[in-house]
Amino acid sequence: MTKRKTIIAGNWKMFKTRKEATELASAVAAGCKGEKDLPEVVLIPPFTSIESALNAIKDSPVSVGAQNMDWRDNGAFTGEVSPVMLTELGVKYVLIGHSERRQFFGETNQTVNQRLKAALAHKLIPIVCVGETLDERESGLTDSVVRRQVGAALAEIPPEALEIIVVAYEPVWAIGTGKVCEADEANRVLGQIRATIADLYKEGGNSGLADQVPLLYGGSVKPSNIEEQMAKPEIDGALVGGASLKAEEFLPLIKAGQKRVQGTAKDSLSKV
Ligand code: PGA
Repeated sequence: MTKRKTIIAGNWKMFKTRKEATELASAVAAGCKGEKDLPEVVLIPPFTSIESALNAIKDSPVSVGAQNMDWRDNGAFTGEVSPVMLTELGVKYVLIGHSERRQFFGETNQTVNQRLKAALAHKLIPIVCVGETLDERESGLTDSVVRRQVGAALAEIPPEALEIIVVAYEPVWAIGTGKVCEADEANRVLGQIRATIADLYKEGGNSGLADQVPLLYGGSVKPSNIEEQMAKPEIDGALVGGASLKAEEFLPLIKAGQKRVQGTAKDSLSKV
């Protein structure tokens, strides 16, 4: 099996002023200092706090991402931020199609695809978010919704991009609600996502590349439930909202990712 990257990403949403971002990013960087076998740690502040976070994580293994971006390089698009602006800052990752963008800001499967193409063109690592609503889950539509979102996001994306893209499964009903998706079920849906990707690329003989795509789970991840998630074979990391806003909650999540990197996630679980 391919050894995939483990990623622990903190989506700060519309929280953290520049001053607060400096404090939190500094505390995370300090917590990672001197640690071996760290997962990829990504802090995703609001646009105005990106530079502060970047300054605070200098000389540390921590990376910074953006929560969204337009797909065009520049233009008369009031309120938007372009990939060129993000790469100039030193941003490495970008979230694409977070459910809050889909729900409140008109993001569609088509604009997700446009943003994904732009992220790749600008060498940003995209974290593409997919997930069903509660209604869709209760109507038995989880797999078809997620398959459709993944298929639309990856339309016309060349196979070699699968070495860069990250996908996060975030069931909408689990985001910010405290209701975590059970690890077995999250693992099953991520398996479906991997199978969908393999299927999409089978024509060119590239289905094996699906094995390289890091798949994250997101939705009410916290220190008390992450270990179980990290012990599952398809869950390569976590996209975390609420629990990423305090260093004392986020650092244990990084630790859980570290155990996965060390291959001891399962062992630690079996001892529980
Ligand atoms: P949550 O958010 O961890 O607060 O549920 C996750 C996300 O929206 O990325």
